[in-house]
Amino acid sequence: DRSIKIAPSILSADFANFGQEIRAIEAQGADWVHVDVMDGHFVPNLTFGPPAVKAFRPHVKTVMDVHLMIAPVDPYIEAYAEAGADFLTAHVEAGPHIHRTLQATRAAGMKAGVALNPGTPAEAALPLLDLADMVLVMTVNPGFGGQKFLDMTAKIRTIRAAIGDRPIHIQVDGGIDPVTAPLVAEAGADSLVAGSAVFRGGSVDTPGVYGENIAAI
Ligand code: DX5
Ligand code: ZN
Repeated sequence: DRSIKIAPSILSADFANFGQEIRAIEAQGADWVHVDVMDGHFVPNLTFGPPAVKAFRPHVKTVMDVHLMIAPVDPYIEAYAEAGADFLTAHVEAGPHIHRTLQATRAAGMKAGVALNPGTPAEAALPLLDLADMVLVMTVNPGFGGQKFLDMTAKIRTIRAAIGDRPIHIQVDGGIDPVTAPLVAEAGADSLVAGSAVFRGGSVDTPGVYGENIAAI
C-alpha cells in the first residue's frame, strides 16, 4: 500500500553514527525518521535529549518524528520545537493534562501525537482526536527495541472508525516486521515504526540491507 509510511526507529541504529545512519535509511526508502526519547523514569531506559535531537535535524531530509517516553512532557515541548521536530508524540499515561500537552505542541508549531501503551484502551484517545494529528498505538510496552509484538488490531480498528475522514495518522510501534505489518495496516494503521526489522543485518557500510528490509515491510 503506497500510502503507508515506514518510519525506521534509530533506537536500533549505531549510536556512534547517527548522522550516517539517518542518511542511509533515507537513501534506502524510509519515509520518516522515528526518534525514541527515553528518560529512565517513564520507561526503564535512557536514550538522548533535545541537544542530540537538534544535532540529528540537519541529516533528516524527510520527516523527524519524535516519540517522547518521558514524564513530565510539558517543560520540554519548546526545546523539541527548537530541535526541529516535525511530529512530537507524548504518552497519554505521562501526565494528568494531555489536552494541554497537545495544545502546547501545536502552538509551538509541531504536529501533535498522542501515544497509548498496550494496557490503555482505545477510549482514552477518543476525546483527543480534534487536538491530535496522530495516534500512536504501541504494540509493545515501550522502553526497548526487539520485543514481541502485542496484537492491538481491535484497538486500531476502534480508533480508525472514530477518526472517520479526519486527516489523523494512526502509527504503530513495536515488533513490526514483514509478518505483523500487514495485520496492522489492514486494521487501519498508516505509519509503521520499525527498529530491529529495518536495521538487522545491515550497517552504514552495507546500506542495501536496510533497503531490502524496508521493502520487505
Ligand atoms: C519502543 C520504541 C520503539 C522501538 C521499536 O519503546 O518506542 O520505537 O525502537 O523497536 P522494534 O521495531 O525493534 O520493536
Ligand atoms: Zn517509538
